[in-house]
Order: sequence, then structure tokens, then C-alpha cells
Amino acid sequence: MHSNCQLRALLFFPAMLISGLELGYLYGASKAPIRAKQGMVASSERLASQIGIDTLKKGGNAVDAAVAVGFALAVTHPSAGNLGGGGFMMIRFATGETACIDYRETAPATAGRNVYLDNSGQIVPMASTQGYRASGVPGTPAGLCLAQKKYGRLSLKEVIQPSIDLAEQGFLVSDHLSDSLRGAAPLLELFAESRRVYLNNGKYFESGERLTQKDLAWSLKAIRDKGADGFYRGEVAARIAAAYKPHGSWMTAEDLLEYEPKLRTPLRGSYRGYDVIAMPPPSSGGTVLLEMLNALEGFDVSSMGAGSSRTIHLMTEVMRHAFRDRAELMGDTDFVKVPTSRLILKSYASEFRKRFNPGKASDSLALPARVLPANEASETTHFSVVDKDGNAVANTYTLNGGYGSGVTIEGTGILMNNEMDDFTSKPGVPNAYGLIQSDANAIVRGKRPLSAMTPTFLLREGKLSLVVGSPGGPTIINTVLQVIVNVVDFGMTIQEAIDAPRFHHQWLPDELRMEIHGFSDDATKALEARGHRLAFRGFMGDAEGIMLEPKTGMRLGASDPRGDGQTIGY
Ligand code: DON
Repeated sequence: MHSNCQLRALLFFPAMLISGLELGYLYGASKAPIRAKQGMVASSERLASQIGIDTLKKGGNAVDAAVAVGFALAVTHPSAGNLGGGGFMMIRFATGETACIDYRETAPATAGRNVYLDNSGQIVPMASTQGYRASGVPGTPAGLCLAQKKYGRLSLKEVIQPSIDLAEQGFLVSDHLSDSLRGAAPLLELFAESRRVYLNNGKYFESGERLTQKDLAWSLKAIRDKGADGFYRGEVAARIAAAYKPHGSWMTAEDLLEYEPKLRTPLRGSYRGYDVIAMPPPSSGGTVLLEMLNALEGFDVSSMGAGSSRTIHLMTEVMRHAFRDRAELMGDTDFVKVPTSRLILKSYASEFRKRFNPGKASDSLALPARVLPANEASETTHFSVVDKDGNAVANTYTLNGGYGSGVTIEGTGILMNNEMDDFTSKPGVPNAYGLIQSDANAIVRGKRPLSAMTPTFLLREGKLSLVVGSPGGPTIINTVLQVIVNVVDFGMTIQEAIDAPRFHHQWLPDELRMEIHGFSDDATKALEARGHRLAFRGFMGDAEGIMLEPKTGMRLGASDPRGDGQTIGY
């Protein structure tokens, strides 16, 4: 795979840190990225990626393919692919125009600020993470149908039919899915319908067995025939409302009728000559990412070296400061004011630079008050798609936790989300991801919970150069940050950038989480000597990325080795 010529380049220019975007050939220890001339799909499941590619070959554009992949993952990747969840789709057309579809879940009418607290004001354990009352009103069917109708080239029927076939005829369960379903048994066996559908009535699905989902096929057909109305009105909606009736009618037919996806304006920033197009609220992803990139831009990160204690220390401090802003200031901007445009100003990042101490970790609880500049007016899954014309989609969607609330609505095959836990159940008390959040993210009817999903594009000289995103709760933002820094500052290929070991800091708890393997003892000791509290964890994220080679326009794609994804191109 490595030609002599590439090796020679390595010998002649050992210290040359030109972005992998420009080189594309100087591979390190990772597999070479998948290369293709025309279209490419990187998703967390092979059959779904293939459906995306088939859709492109049929004449669909990147949006058609993304919608087809979105529906397919609902069948083949049930831990996160979904109809009963929500997410964000970022689109960039080859013309340079961008679009952003927010199909995040909303709080049902019965929900309110204190809905997860008992009479003494304490959080009721698991109330926002498990079972019927954990779900927000799903946005996925509305979001995918809107994307297809507004921006697709094919018919909805053409993009959804392959998923109907997969659900109806079944597919062979992979090792990964078999393990994942078995691992989720403690949650799924609490709900009879989930036990029947996903645990094979308690017998489990072995690798190589066929998983058929007739009820899910029925729901998908309703969407195929009636568009989003097939889900939000009519028989599917009636079955959802009926399932919630014995549970205090937590979600009603009216809640479903009221749901609407929103078109948002993507955030724009820059990093070392690249334009960054990032996700606006109600995700915190783009704001936090841009804050961090702005802060890093003031330092010569490439000379600090990938994986060195100097780099990790700097990036950790940057994460700490940006995640504090997330915790204290951010929420759904349809309901609360968030100073997004000021937070992403370069001048705000210079505040951080003044107080950065290269020799010492700061204390999360004793950070100086922020000084905002005046306003200058100014178990989730991700997939990336690029078509032959250069249109691109970055889509991240989720049920929140793996298999969401654990509830499958009888007769529909629809697994429901537990996205309500992304709201602030009680200010100051951590949610399932350990995130402390503020009143800005309090529960209000119709409001969207604050997210960390970060589907992102990078452009170079006005041309698309990177499409990326990941699951992982709050670690999503830092995974995307590290992929970008690995590419731009350290000259890695997209595969190397995704493979590299990851770390994460989210302000509170005040700990630096590091993947268990991949960091040297020297680096971790040097971080501890600066005062960081280290917590070693399993892997973080499942990034799926596509880069464009500037000279040739070749698509270079990579799926994360941490997951079971596959990048396919043609
Ligand atoms: O929107 C969010 O930030 C979370 N609900 C995402 C959850 C997630 O990434 C879980 N996947 N590992």
C-alpha cells in the first residue's frame, strides 16, 4: 500500500507538517483510507452504507443517499439508528449553499421543569433515562422526509424501499449486533415488546441468524405512502398514543401532530485557513467546537506533537473552558437567549489564551469569570456522504442511550428515545453523561433538549475538504475536535486522524478521561504532574469521515475502528 515514492517523501521531509488534506499519501500505521472517484458513504453499519451507495448509483444525490442510510440504520443498527429519535442533518451543496435540518426531539406537553423530581425535590432515579416517560417526541421521520422532499432528486419511495425490504425479509445479524443486543438485554427485557423483537423472546440472536422486523416494515410503509404524515397522523400515531395511555399519556396524538422539524442556519468559523461549518443550537456542538478551535489557533499545536503531554494539556484546558460555557449558558435558542455569536468570536478566545498556564491544570470550580466581547452582530450514530457532484451530508442522529428508553411501541417496531435526559432535570445535578446543566436547558413543553451532536464540514479555499461527525454524548465534540486537529495540525490522513487515541474533558467532573490504550506512560505522568486527574476509560466515539483530495478530487473515507462501520465508495 505504501509505495517507495511515499516512503521517500517521508525520509526527505521528516518534520514537514503539511495537512494530510494536501498530501493524502504519507500514511502512518493506519490502514490507508478508502479511495473513490465519485460517491462515498461512511456509516456505522455495512448494509446501510451499501444502500447509500446504491442510492447514489441510481442517480440520487447526497441527500437521497443520506435519507436512505438514515432509514436503513433504523433497521440494521437499532441501538442508535431510529425512527423514534432525532438528530441533525447538515448539507453542503456543490454550489456552496448550505442547509441544516434540526429534527431534534421535543418535550411533550405533559413534561415540565420538575417532572423528574419527587415531592422532596430529588431526582427520581432512571425516570429520564428508562421507560415511557424518558422519551421526547420523535423528530427523525419528519427530518428525513423534509430533507428528501426539499433537497432530494429521487422519490421518497425509492429511498425508503430498500429499508422496507431489509425489515420485511430480514438480514443476517453480525457479531457486533449480536453482542450489542445481548449487552442491552438488562434494558430490553424490561419491556415485553422489546424482548420479543430484539431479544428473540429471550433466546437472543446469534451471529448469522436472521432478524426480521415485520412491524417496523409496516411503519416504514406508512411513511413511504404518506410521507411524514404516515408517522405523525393516522394509524402509526394512534398506536404510539395508545401505548403511552397507561403511562399517564406522556405522549399524545396532539404531541405528535405538533412536531415540526426546523431549518437552521449553520454556524461559520475558521481554523488555520480552513472554513468550518458547524451545527448551531439546539446543539452545543458547533459553538463549543468553534470556541475550542479559536482558542487552539493561537498556539503552535503542530510543534507540540500529537499525543504529547503539552498538546493534551493545552487541549484539555481548552475543553474545560468551552464546556463550562456549554453547561452555564446553552439551551434551545427558540426558548432562551444564548450568546452564540459572541462565544464564537476570535476575540473571546484570546481571553482564554491570556489565562492559559502551560505548567498547571486549572481548577474547574475556580475558573475566572468569563468576559464576553461585545456582540459584533454578527448511542447516537453519524454518517457522512459525498456524491459525484460534490454535494455532501453530515448527519448525526440518536435515541440518546443505546436502544434509547428501551420501549418498543407495540405493533410498530419503533424503539423510542430517552432524549429527555439531555434536559436539565435539576440544575447542578449531573445527567447520565455526568453533565451539569443550567436553567437555560430546563424542560418546557415543545422545547428541544441541548445536544452535543456535531456534524461538521471543513472547507479549503471555498472547496469541501472534510465531512465528519461521531456519536458519544459530550465526547462527540471533543472527538470531532481531535479529528480536525489531527488532520490540520498533525498532517494525518482521515483514517489516522480517526484511529488516534482520544481524550475528553467536560469541565465537570474535573477529570481528564483518556482511552485506556494508546497514551504513553511518559505523557500521562507529565499530565498528572501538571495537576490533571486522569480517568482511564474504554473507547470514545465512532467517527465516520470523508476527506477530499484537493488535487484529484478523490474521496478518501474512513470508518472508526472502535465501531463496526464501513466506508464504501465507487
Ligand atoms: O444529543 C446528545 O448530545 C446525546 N443525546 C447524544 C447521545 C450519544 O451520542 C450516545 N452515543 N454514544
